Amino acid sequence: MMKLIEKTKLPYFLGESDRAAMQQHFARLSSDDLRLRFGRTPDRIWLRQYVDGIDLESDAVLGVRSGDQLLGLTHLALYRGAVELGLSVLPQARHQGIASAMFERAVLYARNRGVVELFMHCLSENQPMRTIARRAGMRLVVEGSETDAFIELPPATVFSIGAEQIACQQVLIDLALRQVDLANVD
Ligand SMILES: CC(C)(COP(=O)(O)OP(=O)(O)OC[C@H]1O[C@@H](n2cnc3c(N)ncnc32)[C@H](O)[C@@H]1OP(=O)(O)O)[C@@H](O)C(=O)NCCC(=O)NCCS
Repeated sequence: MMKLIEKTKLPYFLGESDRAAMQQHFARLSSDDLRLRFGRTPDRIWLRQYVDGIDLESDAVLGVRSGDQLLGLTHLALYRGAVELGLSVLPQARHQGIASAMFERAVLYARNRGVVELFMHCLSENQPMRTIARRAGMRLVVEGSETDAFIELPPATVFSIGAEQIACQQVLIDLALRQVDLANVD
């Protein structure tokens, strides 16, 4: 039977039960990808501590799922009035707009919670990240091999809150379709 959802790039908010999938996501990235993501090449112990250390009460994590696998992962680290984004997408899922979809969802989430500034830190060689930042109208500050990107977020409006409600409903529908797909496979 044809699957109802072949491909989706809907970002989900992840919870405690997703920590193992987050570890697996990072385990599937090459050392060069990890260097681009973290600005250093972390070992497995550091990565485990990083994932276990994410405070899901104060921060948020977005993921794009394919079965049990997380194709994309975005950590929204919330500071007072500001949020820092760290994104990664598995190599086989790149160039499909997954990072852009997570970025847009993160902006909506932060804006609707009164966050006024969003920033990202990346290596200057990271063309996809610079493209995402430029397209979002972020201010890029290049300092040699490192680049910081900043954007001031507009306040929430009835439209941005409505857009977030629609995004939440899309996730619920996506979840329901996945259950139907699973039932059809059995
Ligand atoms: C950076 C990364 C998250 C991009 O993920 P992605 O899902 O492929 O990104 P998107 O598909 O949303 O593409 C974003 C834009 O970057 C452009 N882009 C993608 N790969 C590119 C490349 N290698 N060179 C130049 N531009 C590129 C795309 O063209 C796209 O713009 P478009 O929509 O106008 O075509 C992914 O490459 C990755 O995980 N890299 C390793 C970790 C990393 O660098 N993290 C960022 C540090 S915060």
